[in-house]
Amino acid sequence: MPQLTNEERQFLIDLANEARRRAYVPYSNYPVGAALRTKSGKVFTGVNVENAAYPTTMCAERTAVFTAVTAGEKEFEVIAVATENGGSPCGSCRQVLAEFGLDTVVLIADGDGKLIQETTVRDLLPGAFTPEHLVKK
Ligand code: THU
Repeated sequence: MPQLTNEERQFLIDLANEARRRAYVPYSNYPVGAALRTKSGKVFTGVNVENAAYPTTMCAERTAVFTAVTAGEKEFEVIAVATENGGSPCGSCRQVLAEFGLDTVVLIADGDGKLIQETTVRDLLPGAFTPEHLVKK
């Protein structure tokens, strides 16, 4: 697990909270922001983007991951997720994060920028189904 400084943690949490302002949340009014740092040191943000057809909504964490992958980045170190009340990543986002590594650190923060929980994808998704399970014998 990478050792993060408090400055690094706060930088990502603040970026995630700034991104929250750009969330498109006319239905839930629950903006979520994510800031994902790659092993190469780049940072990608994401917000939740809702839709009148509710299940079509995309979460902030997956928006950040897909944006990073689109940019050619697949190795992640840490993701900060910010919500008003320190909400935890949903199951689908945990699964998408697991695809790219169980050791990714997850910083869960609230709307004041306070770190509520520091964990890993491994701890958030025990027994994850990963790409290794698809390797043919
Ligand atoms: N949401 C996220 O963006 N990330 C999560 O991990 C949990 C839920 C969004 C989806 C929806 O726009 C709103 O929060 C309420 O569920």
